[in-house]
This record gives sequence, C-alpha cells and structure tokens, in this order.
Amino acid sequence: MRICFIKSLGAVALTLAAAATVTFALEPPQDIIVMPPKDGGYTLVKAIESRHSDRTFVDSDFSSTQVAEILWCASGENRENGGLTVPTALGKKEVFVYAVTKQGVYKFLPNEKKALFVNKGDFRKDAGMQDFVGKAAVNLVYVIDKNLSGGKTDADKVRMGAFSAGAMSQNVALFAASKGYGNVVRGSFDKVKLGKALKLSPSEEILMTQSVGPIAPAK
Ligand SMILES: Cc1cc2nc3c(=O)[nH]c(=O)nc-3n(C[C@H](O)[C@H](O)[C@H](O)COP(=O)(O)O)c2cc1C
Repeated sequence: MRICFIKSLGAVALTLAAAATVTFALEPPQDIIVMPPKDGGYTLVKAIESRHSDRTFVDSDFSSTQVAEILWCASGENRENGGLTVPTALGKKEVFVYAVTKQGVYKFLPNEKKALFVNKGDFRKDAGMQDFVGKAAVNLVYVIDKNLSGGKTDADKVRMGAFSAGAMSQNVALFAASKGYGNVVRGSFDKVKLGKALKLSPSEEILMTQSVGPIAPAK
C-alpha cells in the first residue's frame, strides 16, 4: 500500500500521478491537498433525482483523495479569481468546512487548496448524538467565523452563514449521490464537545453537520 502525502503545492503533479493509491494510513496525519474530482459520476439531473438521507453507515475510512473531493465540492475554489463552488454573503467566505475522520480533524482552507490538519484522533463520535455518526467515514462540520462575516447582528451573521452552509451541504449530497456514498445533514450535536474536537476559536460557531460515507447494501 503506497503512502502519498505531500507538504507543498510544488508536489501537486506527483500527487495527481499517485492519486489512485493515496490512503489515509499515515502517522502522523498531515494536511490534505484539495483538488477538484476528476470524474463527477452521475449527470446532475440523475444526482438530484437520487438525493436522499442515509443513516446505515458502515464503519469505514476514506482515502485522502476521497476526502479532498468532498471538500472541494463543498466549498472549493472553482475560478481563477478565488471564487468558490457556493455563494457567500458579500463574498466574505466566512463559513469553513471541517472534516472529522478516523485519523483526525481537518479544516478546509479553499483558497489555499488544502485541508489543514488540526487535531489527531478519532473524534467521529463527538460529531453527533446518533449512533451511526461514529461510523461514517467522514463527518463534515459547517462552521461560521463571525469575525469574517459582513452581517451587522449575530442573527444576521448566522442567517447568512446558514445559507452558505446549506449550499455546501447540498453540493456534497449531490456528489455523494453520484458516487454512491450515503449522506445525511444533521442538526443534532453537542456544540461544546464538538467545538473542543475542532479546537474552535471564540469567534467560530457550528452551524450544521453532515455525515458522509459508505453505507450497508440495501436488503
Ligand atoms: C436542518 C436539518 C436538520 C436535520 N437534522 C437531522 C439530524 O440531526 N439527524 C438526522 O438523522 N437527520 C437530520 N436531518 C435529515 C432529515 O431528517 C431528512 O432530510 C428528512 O427526514 C427527509 O428525508 P430525506 O432527506 O431522505 O428526503 C436534518 C435535515 C435538516 C434540513
């Protein structure tokens, strides 16, 4: 099994060449370089037709490439001017996606095209209140940094941030449908416990979570 983590953008070509064999089996985990998926799977209309919530996750792990593809769909840079796959109020890009995996926690920085490794360990159980959450290959956590928001009041900031988070989670849901992964967005989580796992700063607040991963075959 080949291990292929890289530290700089200069090594992107090497990563692409080895993408098919990239895995998460690394000690210690490191930042993940985030690139768009090469193959979208279904057509957009078929993905929309297929979208639904799943909760029958099997305990599993995604490769760094699979995590990177999901993050790019959620809020990756898709234009040369730094624009993202989703709208953000006043273009402030105040909503961040954290990925909670079996290996650790990552914070996605879209314009740096990488997911920063922020905490080592399996915190998946801390990402929700339902049993399946601890099994999903990745739990995404949508977090607003209120210091970056253009909103005047706290309520405005959360309202606008929630709109972006909704767009992000739907991009992921459609990508998940096209890849055959299960997904469910979740409002049930312990803010304090999850905030600790994510090492959030006081200006950051969790808006929503989403479990994504392989699911049990339908009976
Ligand atoms: C804001 C919001 C919060 C949700 N919270 C949870 C949750 O905490 N746990 C869960 O299992 N599903 C949660 N869901 C998923 C809904 O239960 C699901 O979308 C609904 O039952 C309809 O099913 P469908 O998505 O398959 O169409 C949530 C959905 C939304 C939009």
